[in-house]
Amino acid sequence: MKIAFFDTKPYDRASFEKFDEPSFTFYETRLSGDTVGLAKGYDGVCVFVNDTVDAAVIDRLYEYGIRFIALRCAGYNNVDVEHAFGKIHVFRVPAYSPYAVAEHTMALLLTSIRRIHKAYIRTRDFNFSLNGLTGFDLHGKTVGVVGTGKIGRIFIDICRGFGMEVIAYDKFPAKDSGINYVSLEELFERSDIISFHCPLTADTRHLINPDSVKRLKKGVVIVNTSRGGLIDADALLDGIKERRIGAACLDVYEEESDIFFQDFSGHIVEDDTLARLISMPNVIVTSHQAFLTEEALNNIAETTVENILSFAGKGVCDNELCYHCGNIEDCKKKRKEKCF
Ligand code: NAI
Repeated sequence: MKIAFFDTKPYDRASFEKFDEPSFTFYETRLSGDTVGLAKGYDGVCVFVNDTVDAAVIDRLYEYGIRFIALRCAGYNNVDVEHAFGKIHVFRVPAYSPYAVAEHTMALLLTSIRRIHKAYIRTRDFNFSLNGLTGFDLHGKTVGVVGTGKIGRIFIDICRGFGMEVIAYDKFPAKDSGINYVSLEELFERSDIISFHCPLTADTRHLINPDSVKRLKKGVVIVNTSRGGLIDADALLDGIKERRIGAACLDVYEEESDIFFQDFSGHIVEDDTLARLISMPNVIVTSHQAFLTEEALNNIAETTVENILSFAGKGVCDNELCYHCGNIEDCKKKRKEKCF
């Protein structure tokens, strides 16, 4: 099995090069309509969150005889799974370290509300003044968690440890979980902190929008470590300017694909919305870093390699995404046979 590996970073190489097979060729460039030609002559491609795997790219991959797309991430909103069906198999890594993401979420929240990012800069400059660093206790505050899957639930446990009241919204609430589910409207109205842990779908795109911003509790802290598209960034910015939104912690951004994971220091960033957000004293941005722990990187590499070798050996992969059976993520369990 020969795999073209796109959007390679040094930490990817370190975790994937440990394996004798399959054979990876590492390309630093992302997969897109312009770069898809690099996949010629391979059996499969390995991609990450910001590679473009739309219908046009899939058609070219199919033409080249590519048999599978191995996503080395959980989210798959960048892959046209419907278009791939019947042509190219799509695998993903459903979970690699939900703890990594949940813990980063709390790290962002604490940094923001206790002004750690400001204190760090001040003390490095021997400025020991506390003016402007007043935070607030998390204990007793209401956190609204949108999406109570693997990451959302770990974040809920962390919040409970802090003595917070947890309310949650999920389109598919977990039974007997002891989670206090409320409607999305109620969550928006009651929460002091809102944290997003649901996938990006047609239903969840721009959950934060000009209308929903009006319903938010004044001073709310918005935390997004899921997918940028859950938030209309201009509406978020307006909410911050109007002082309705008290702070925002963003590990993801809707237009991140041309910016995140790259070094633009010394350049002029063209995205005015992102530049304005970053200029706000109450906004913290990390560049899609929540997954980045040693444990997660090892798990990503192991599961991706297992997915590929299972498909190569048995023609099936438990982590295949399937558009056909309507249960994209769990089709194997339902059908007990190949997806196509
Ligand atoms: P999961 O699949 O275990 O949980 C997702 C939850 O969202 C499920 O409970 C599901 O029922 C719920 N959901 C689905 N549609 C919904 C809707 N319309 N409204 C509300 N809830 C809905 O996924 P997991 O592992 O917890 O990951 C959550 C998200 O985190 C992923 O979709 C991914 O986008 C993001 N992520 C971000 C990372 C980062 O580095 N920033 C790394 C890994 C994941």
